[in-house]
Amino acid sequence: SKIVLAYSGGLDTSVILKWLQDRYQCPVVTFTADLGQGEEVESVRPKAEALGVEEIFIEDLRETFVRDYVFPMFRANAIYEGEYLLGTSIARPLIARRLVEIAEQTGGDAISHGATGKGNDQVRFELGAYALKPDIQVIAPWRFWDLNSREKLIAYAESNGIPITRKQDGGSPYSMDANALHISYEGGELEDPWAEPEAAMWRWTRDPREAPDTPLELTLTFAHGDVVAIDGEAMTPYQVLARLNAVGGEHGIGRIDIVENRYVGIKSRGCYETPGGTILLKAHRAIESITLDREVAHLKDELMPRYAKLIYNGYWFAPERKLLQKVIDDSQRPVNGEVRLRLYKGNVEVLGRRSEFDSLFDPRIATFEDDAGAYSQADAAGFIKLNALRLRLGAHLTGRD
Ligand code: ARG
Ligand code: SIN
Repeated sequence: SKIVLAYSGGLDTSVILKWLQDRYQCPVVTFTADLGQGEEVESVRPKAEALGVEEIFIEDLRETFVRDYVFPMFRANAIYEGEYLLGTSIARPLIARRLVEIAEQTGGDAISHGATGKGNDQVRFELGAYALKPDIQVIAPWRFWDLNSREKLIAYAESNGIPITRKQDGGSPYSMDANALHISYEGGELEDPWAEPEAAMWRWTRDPREAPDTPLELTLTFAHGDVVAIDGEAMTPYQVLARLNAVGGEHGIGRIDIVENRYVGIKSRGCYETPGGTILLKAHRAIESITLDREVAHLKDELMPRYAKLIYNGYWFAPERKLLQKVIDDSQRPVNGEVRLRLYKGNVEVLGRRSEFDSLFDPRIATFEDDAGAYSQADAAGFIKLNALRLRLGAHLTGRD
């Protein structure tokens, strides 16, 4: 047999790599993706080679990730539990997809990952993999090996010549995950939900209190719900997000500190930096505000929490997510135009929005000035009267409470 491992090159997945080889006595294929996490992915090659891996897959999936996963999700304005922009959740299905594709290509019959048995990521990887390849075997060492503490893991690494970065020499005290959409922090001191994280934890954004005194203005151009240009310069989806991360980070945008409900039932404290995503969401809502019909917009808002929960819980490849995506994508046909923004000390302010061909905003109708008969105010009397009818009929029953 042969196992395809999602390999980050870090301590945990390096130990898993060695452990799989020893326990199953079969070749392990490694897969490492550049999803925009900002680390040099080629650096995993010598590590995998040192452990005797012969088939090493290292792929730049930054554009695929943003174009086919992040942007479709942002068309829905997806947010989990009112705060979380799903930065880790949306990356897992793509990794699952590549794992099973590489298994097919190399004759592998199993996939493996370094997610623990207590989290969401195991569910996302495995639901994704089973949806795409029903007979795939999954090996999740964290759920059954005996290296279930930091000490045992480090001891195993030391006795097998796997290099370790300890906290004191630059390793992070947090469990982190990064990609083009966000960076996340969990564990360590964050396990006390009352304790404020140390200032040094945040890596992508400035503290809003230390952000520049001079605001930054920028204009985003939307086509069918996606940003296609910044300040008139055409860009690819990944380039858009990378640029927004850079300017958003500089201006202290997109930090959150939350306690969220994991699918497995655990409440978990997490901190996230999503600078570009926070800007995108605000701007997308602004362009939708003039281009979407009211009931279409409200229907999207009703479906959104459901759609966000599907992504959080790992159902990206499920039929109901795909069905919702079709509806959401179709709604974006008129979502074209420009949004002008100001970034300032942690805030994203909308300064203006316009759409040359798709705006539903009619200044003649909306005006507080004389509208020359465009809207009949007299009609409002009947509108209110009929809507009040059942309230009047029931008034004697509800009384004045
Ligand atoms: N709690 C977040 C989520 O479930 C982030 C998970 C981070 N994962 C990690 N392996 N560090 O989406
Ligand atoms: C893990 O448990 O592997 C990370 C956290 C999560 O998946 O929710």
